[in-house]
Formats: sequence, C-alpha cells, structure tokens
Amino acid sequence: MKPQPCLSIARQLTLRRLLHHSRVLLHDTKKFTSTSESEMSHFNALASSWWDVNGPQRILHKMNLLRMDFIHDTIMDNLKLNENTDDEVYIPPFNMDLLPKQIKDTINADLEGRRDEILSEANYKVLDVGCGGGILSESMARLSFVEQVKGIDLSSDVLEAAKLHKQKDPILEDKLSYSLMAIEDLPEMKSLTLSPCLRCWNTSTIHRESCARNSACGTHTLEKYINQTEIKEWLEEESGLRESFKVVDTKGCIYLPAYGWKFTSCADVGNYFMAIQRVK
Ligand SMILES: C[S@@+](CC[C@H](N)C(=O)[O-])C[C@H]1O[C@@H](n2cnc3c(N)ncnc32)[C@H](O)[C@@H]1O
Repeated sequence: MKPQPCLSIARQLTLRRLLHHSRVLLHDTKKFTSTSESEMSHFNALASSWWDVNGPQRILHKMNLLRMDFIHDTIMDNLKLNENTDDEVYIPPFNMDLLPKQIKDTINADLEGRRDEILSEANYKVLDVGCGGGILSESMARLSFVEQVKGIDLSSDVLEAAKLHKQKDPILEDKLSYSLMAIEDLPEMKSLTLSPCLRCWNTSTIHRESCARNSACGTHTLEKYINQTEIKEWLEEESGLRESFKVVDTKGCIYLPAYGWKFTSCADVGNYFMAIQRVK
C-alpha cells in the first residue's frame, strides 16, 4: 500500500480549526465553500466603497503598493538570465557597489537588457483568487509583461464594483476578466477544499497575503489565519508538492499608522507575502 502523506501536527490543527469554524455556505455560485455567511455579508457591504482610497479599504489600497513591490522584485530576482542563450551576461557574485561606477553601469545595463528581453517573451498569466474589487488585478494587468489577468471572487457585489472600475481604464479591457467563482471551484481544487494557497498550482509565481489581528474588523478571522510556517511545512511534507514547488521568498509586513506599510524581517507575526514557484 502507498504510504499516506503525513501532515504536520500544526497543519492538521489548522485544518481542523478551519473545519470547525467554517460553516459550509451555499452561495449564489451554487457551490460549496469554506467561507462563512458573515464574511460574505461583510465583503458585500464594502463593495460600493471598495475604490474609495480614503474609505474603509484605504489600508488595502496602501498595502497594494508594497505588495506590487514584492511581486515585481520577486519576478526580477528570479529570472534565469543565462538560460537558453549562448550570449551570457555577466552576473557578479558580489556587491556591485564595490566596482568603479562606469563598470557597474555597464553591467547593470547588460542585466537590464536581458531582463527586458526575457520579460518581453514571458506573457505571464495571473490568477487573482479572492480579487475583491480588483485592486491587485488591475495593478497586475497594467504590467507590460503580463498577458492576461483573471480575478475570481465569491461575492457578486464586489465583482460588480470590480467590473465597473475596470471600465475606467481602456488598457484593461482585453487583459482583465472577472468570474464569480470560489477558490474551491478551481479545477485543481476539487479534491482539496481547504488549502487557501492552492492558487499557486496554476501560476509559476504567486504572492500570498494573509492577515491577522491588525486587519480591519470583520475582514479576516484569526481562526482562519494560516501562518507561513504551516504553508512551508505543508509544501515540504506533501509528496507531489515537495518536488513541484519551492518557496522563493517570504516577507513580513506591518502597518504603522503614521508611516504606512513597511516590510519587516519577521514573517511569523501578522501579515506576510509569500512567493512560491513551480519548479517542475
Ligand atoms: C480582503 S478581500 C481581498 C481583496 C483583494 N485580494 C485585494 O487585495 O484587493 C477578500 C476577498 O476574498 C473573497 N473570498 C472569500 N472567500 C473566498 C473563496 N472561498 N473563494 C473566492 N473568494 C473568496 C471575498 O469575497 C473578498 O472579496
């Protein structure tokens, strides 16, 4: 008999916690989801003010800037600059600030040129799960190297706000689309209903955002919070995932009222971004 993948105790506890606290909801998508009715009413109520940068979602709007930095830097840092080419660029294995300025500028220009070359052919496809009113979806669709963005969400009200706002920018018309769909309804999700980060199955690099105590009231519940260690352990311990995915980077972030969002060196407390790459 094939050995069963063993889940860590932490992961099992989290899954139990999710099962215990989530009421199965039959929403207007007519599909099952682990999202509770009170969560859905909360997001529906936010729909009309979603794009008000001074409204209830203002902290999310501010966080999007840091989130885009993380996504952009992660993509740039992980491009394979010398793969599939005979014309290799020099990648210094040391801090380039040690070099004379002219040499440093030449190397940087070479690296930049190669990145542009790779990205011009990359045609990334993005899946934004729980896209809400489309703050991240729109930002991603404006990136020149992104070909298509699909945002999915359970709430028809927030999707309505997303579709309305999309009309304001003609660039988005052909690149961005939205669907009323739960994460559990994604094709890969059929047999695994409780894994919020499974969106990485469809994309080469994902960002994962998770929120805890300091979230706007009602936006996230602590019982459903999955910390970064649990996600890492889950990826490492599940055969099939271990061979196929690698955690590329994880960064904590914190909201400081008089300052805004800031990266932290500690991803273990509160909000964090995580990038997972498909390696096989
Ligand atoms: C805090 S909002 C996030 C908005 C968006 N990700 C952003 O950063 O701008 C969370 C969204 O997830 C959606 N959601 C909750 N459970 C979901 C599920 N099981 N499948 C799809 N979307 C879900 C909610 O309707 C809500 O719009």
